Order: sequence, then C-alpha cells, then structure tokens
Amino acid sequence: MSEHDATSPRSFAVIGAGYVGLVSAVGLARMGHRIELVETNPDRLVALRNGLVPFTELGVQEALTAALASGAVTVLDHTSRTSAEIVLICVGTPIDDQGHADVSAVEAVLADLAMMETHPIIVVRSTMPVGTSQRLLRDGHVRDEARFFTVPEFLAQGTALADFAKPTRVVIGRSPMSDRAAEAVLVEVFGAFGGPLRLVSLEEAELIKNGANAFLALKISFANEMAGLAERSGADVGPVLEAVGLDPRIGSTYLRPSFGFGGSCLPKELQTIATSGQERGLEMHVTAAAHLANIAHQERFAERIEAILGGVKGRRIGVLGLAFKAGTDDIRSSPAVRLAGWLLEHGAEVHAYDPAAAGHAARTLPDLIVAGTAVDAVTGADVAVIATEWPEFRALDWASVKDTMATPLVIDGRRLLDPTVMRELGFRYERVGSPTSEAAGVPLR
Ligand code: UGA
Repeated sequence: MSEHDATSPRSFAVIGAGYVGLVSAVGLARMGHRIELVETNPDRLVALRNGLVPFTELGVQEALTAALASGAVTVLDHTSRTSAEIVLICVGTPIDDQGHADVSAVEAVLADLAMMETHPIIVVRSTMPVGTSQRLLRDGHVRDEARFFTVPEFLAQGTALADFAKPTRVVIGRSPMSDRAAEAVLVEVFGAFGGPLRLVSLEEAELIKNGANAFLALKISFANEMAGLAERSGADVGPVLEAVGLDPRIGSTYLRPSFGFGGSCLPKELQTIATSGQERGLEMHVTAAAHLANIAHQERFAERIEAILGGVKGRRIGVLGLAFKAGTDDIRSSPAVRLAGWLLEHGAEVHAYDPAAAGHAARTLPDLIVAGTAVDAVTGADVAVIATEWPEFRALDWASVKDTMATPLVIDGRRLLDPTVMRELGFRYERVGSPTSEAAGVPLR
C-alpha cells in the first residue's frame, strides 16, 4: 500500500519551463500536487522568479500567478536541487535538417538525476523519435529502467491548458520490467484527468506521439494540395473540403487550408518519421511527400503574390501575422516568417504586424519593418497579406483601411475574411483555395 491514497497530493519536479513544462506544472498544481519547476535558461529563470510566463499561452499567466502565490509551484535553477517523487522531463528535442532529433538535453537531465541520492520516478514528456528510450537505456543514461517511463503530451499551443485538463487520451509507455508500484502512481496521477488510458511499451508510446502529429500534418498537407487544385479548377476549396469532411470516416478537423503549416511539432514529426523509417531500411513515402508538399505550398503562395503584383521588387507589402498560428508568440517553422523572408529576399519592402510574435520575428529578419498596429503595417501598402489567422485581423475596419492603402488589394493566406464583404468594400481580394479573380477592376500600379 502506498503512503498516498488515490487523491493525495504528490511531489513533482518539472524540468524545463517551455510551454509543455510550464503547462504541465500549473495543470498538476491545479490538481493539488506540489511542483518544483526547474529552469536553467537564465532569461526564463529571471522571468519565472518574477512570476512572469516567458511566452504567450492562454490562461497560463493567471494559473502561474495563483500557483506561485499558494506555494504549489516553486522555481529552482537546477535539477540536482529537487527532492520530488516524480520527475517530468520537458526539455526541447529539436531536429536538424536531416530529421535527426537532438536529445542531448534529455540526456543531460538523466545524467543529473543519476547523480542524485533520491530515486524518483522518471517520466519523459519531451517528444522523441521511436527507439530513443531503448537507446537511452542501452547506452546507460537511465539509472533504473524499472522507474523510467514516457508519457507523451498532446497539447496544442494556444489551447495547451485546456488540452492538459481534458486529454484526448493518456498514454503511458513503460519497460517490460517496470516497477508496478511506480506505474500505479502514474496511472493514478495522469488517469485523474480522464480520457482513455493506454499502457504500452516505450516504443509504442513514442510511435503514438510521432504518428498522431504526422497524421495531423498529412491531413493539412492534403487540404492544402486540394486548395491548390481548386485554385486551378475554377472551384472554391471551402465547400469541397466541408462536404468531404462530412464523411465521419474522414472528419472535418485539420482540413482548414492555409498556405502551409508550421510550429515546432508537425513539420518536425514528418521528418522524424521519414528518418526513423530510413534508418530501418523503410522508405516512408507518405510522410516524406507531406513534408515536401508543405514546402511547395509555401513557395506557391509566395509566387502567387508575385504573379498578382507583377513582381515584388520595390513593392511595399503589409504582412499581417508572423506567429505560426494565432494564439501564440512562437515563430518556429512559421510559414508567415518564411514568407516575409522570401519577400525581403526578392526585394520587397515588408512592413509586418503581429500582436505577439513581432519581437521574435524582428530578431530573425533584421530587414523586416515592424509596425505597431495592423493598420500601420498596411498603410501605403501595395498589398495586405494575411499570414496568421489572428481574429483581430477579421475585426479590422477594412473600409477605413482601404483608404490608407496604395492599392486596395488583399491576399489572404488563411481564408480569414469574407470575399463578398471585401469585394463590396472595393477590394481586390484573393485567397488560398479560390481561383485568382479577374482583377475586379482594381488597377495595380
Ligand atoms: C501540435 C498538435 O496539434 C498537438 O496535438 C501536439 O501535442 C503538439 O503539436 C506537440 O507535439 O507538442 P501545435 O504545434 O501547437 O500542436 O499546432 P497545431 O494547432 O496542430 O497547428 C500546427 C500548424 O498547422 C499551424 O501552423 C496551424 O496554423 C496549421 N493548421 C492547423 C492548418 O493550417 N490547418 C488546420 O486545419 C489546422
């Protein structure tokens, strides 16, 4: 019998205060657990010690403020200082251009844990390619295989806290020789959130995570390819995908066309799966193609802007949105940032606005002119390009915006605006997934 009953609080160390770690920390704190949040990055540490969330994520600032005030979360600067019963490893595992994940941050945490006198349950939440856990065990990075688990997260940025509180499934990966008492603790803690529970092998847990992300990416790549075909067939992709998705075997989610998808997870997972297959002598045709398609969609959109404008060199282009999606300040693999970079490389003067991600983007693209408001970004512009689906772009007073632009032209990479309304206002309005119009009488200079 454990010293804890089914509802008693546990002590956790959460290593890494990125969005997975921080959301896990405040989400567990809300369930009554005590959390030591470990962050080694000096800037993030200073922010956390001042009670500030170092990124944009809905609801997390309020949750952290409450958890720090109640003492449920404390902030530490090194793994070695923890004394927790359960350690969640939530550090980054970036991939290189060849699709190889860099898990050195996970290895470094495991090395610290191996030196400690305490003997916590170790849970990896960082995304790792299939086979990584077995390699870590084989190479001696893990002190006690029986107390080593992977519990992948399925949080999406922008809704991470809600996703954590209501998981679609709870997957616990463990070794055949796992310590049953430790396993029971994890079932109790993570099972408390509800959602179907799956106890699987370490490889299976890794593949579930890799596969779920890759499948979402496949769906979007397919939607975007259909959008391209619709553009060239005189069709609008909106009603097409809506009706395709009505078949419950297909479903309507993740079929929203855009000019490409980004973020730290979906693009990476396609490459990870392709590389995992190649390493085992298996060509992963479908996932490899979805990755190439995502790059091609982004290039095609940039070229469409160029074709509509008759060249981008010397043109003033207002880009609305830089984050990889709305609701975050994250620009990792952001199609919007890649587009802005492409336009700059091709000689355009790019003025951009994003409510959260502009600072990050400006550091990546020094020639980008960052505007303080959406209206400033498009004032005097030859075209306004919608690159991230922030609701505030839909709410803009487009009638007034029109008067500030050099040419009333909007090219919508997110299908955010209503074509009828925009055309009634006198805009030439083009969007992903609809054929290029006959210029609608709006002259381009
Ligand atoms: C993704 C998954 O959705 C999460 O389940 C997973 O836990 C997470 O990765 C992770 O591995 O940590 P996230 O990267 O936050 O979450 O982003 P998504 O909301 O999935 O969006 C990814 C990209 O696809 C964005 O650029 C978004 O704009 C685009 N997208 C999404 C579309 O273009 N169309 C859609 O229908 C949906």
